[in-house]
Amino acid sequence: IKYVPEPFRIKMVETIKMLSPEEREQKIAEANYNLFNLKSEDVYIDLLTDSGTNAMSQEQWSGVMRGDEAYAGGSSYLKLIKTAQEIFDYKHIQPVHQGRAAEKVLFGAVLKEGQYSISNMHFDTTRAHVELVGGRAIDCVVAEALDPAKRAPFKGNMDIEKLESLIKELGADKIGVVIMTITNNSAGGQPVSVQNIRETAEICKKYGIHFCIDAARYAENAYFVKQREKGYENKSIQEIIKEMFSYGDMFTMSAKKDTIVNMGGLLAIKDDAELFQQVKNRTISFEGFTTYGGLSGRDLEALAIGLTEGLDENYLRYRIGQVEYLAGRLDEAGIAYQSPAGGHGIFVDAKDMLPHIPYYEFPGQALAIELYKEAGIRTCDIGSYMLGNDPDTGEQLRAGFEFTRLAIPRRVYTQAHIDIMADALIAIKERASEVKGYKITWEPPILRHFQASLAPI
Ligand code: F0G
Repeated sequence: IKYVPEPFRIKMVETIKMLSPEEREQKIAEANYNLFNLKSEDVYIDLLTDSGTNAMSQEQWSGVMRGDEAYAGGSSYLKLIKTAQEIFDYKHIQPVHQGRAAEKVLFGAVLKEGQYSISNMHFDTTRAHVELVGGRAIDCVVAEALDPAKRAPFKGNMDIEKLESLIKELGADKIGVVIMTITNNSAGGQPVSVQNIRETAEICKKYGIHFCIDAARYAENAYFVKQREKGYENKSIQEIIKEMFSYGDMFTMSAKKDTIVNMGGLLAIKDDAELFQQVKNRTISFEGFTTYGGLSGRDLEALAIGLTEGLDENYLRYRIGQVEYLAGRLDEAGIAYQSPAGGHGIFVDAKDMLPHIPYYEFPGQALAIELYKEAGIRTCDIGSYMLGNDPDTGEQLRAGFEFTRLAIPRRVYTQAHIDIMADALIAIKERASEVKGYKITWEPPILRHFQASLAPI
């Protein structure tokens, strides 16, 4: 299988260690079978998330030294605003400390109690923030996203017909916001086409509804558009990004992903000055003064540099190529995953590998635990365990899929590490029928997967 060689060399290293199988068995039991409870030093390859786990470049680290720590009007802030305005063509840019901070600041301004948010798919914190302001979140992804074996180019797309019928059924005044998540994380890092973004925007305009882009992985989305959407093969990543964002009214961004930093976020409003005034007021209460938004000057500086680095096509080719190589190894071994491969990782179809474990015994979580036991690899469940309970009835919800997500940090792991991931999955597949399900022994009321305790059944 072909792979894209790393377009960088290594200047600083971090030693990692591998515990024995017996030690791992003990550590995961002590963690109550919740991978978020593990110490990172007990993890060999950490694929829990691609968020904030990226390796910064020498330019970013030099930027850290130049960070202007002024409370108001710092040069790092001004550099960030200028860079973001150039890339996205939005007038109003507000830094915040991470993606969910942008959600908290924005949703309180655009969503009223009892209103709905409709998205191709809400990420879990996005859903939580909709619910925290008294709203309800509805996912409206295309049907093909729910079939992991079906290889379609844009499985992240919004189901346009369903969107319009939902708006008609619920009433346009009941919809506070429509959110397009690019790439569609919960569907497996699957891309959304420019055409689908445009059509969604047209519907929002027709019914007078705010259209917001959840932009965490916008550069990876643009790369997929260039590879897969007709008419975009000769456009630059920057041109594709300009067009994608031209259809939105606003965006929230966790900058911990495609902007290749360890902390940061953005909230942007294209031209609604009145809404932006509310955003600024809320930022000051929740995040800090508008010219730092919960971040240090050095974070703002690294973020400004990362915004540009994340658009480099050589880097994106390697980045997506790494994930595609892993997918190729799984294809060879007959391991099912959300296919084709997504941008930021592989979402293994745990339902397919562990068909004997029902959704309420969490196959995605069971496979994640096995990967840790097998090879010290830390991953997470994107399925019923993450989805949680119905906020109205308290009953366990059944997710459309049961994935174990191998999220690949940017510029961190080498080709050899990727092979270890494939080998571990192949080893588990061979003894899959022995893997058991789990039950929850304690859970908090919201975003339970981060903190819950589990026990094997
Ligand atoms: N939106 C999307 C699509 C995300 O993937 C995330 C975070 C957020 C919003 C929230 O951003 O973490 O900076 O507050 N996703 C991470 C993940 C945590 O592992 O997928 P945040």
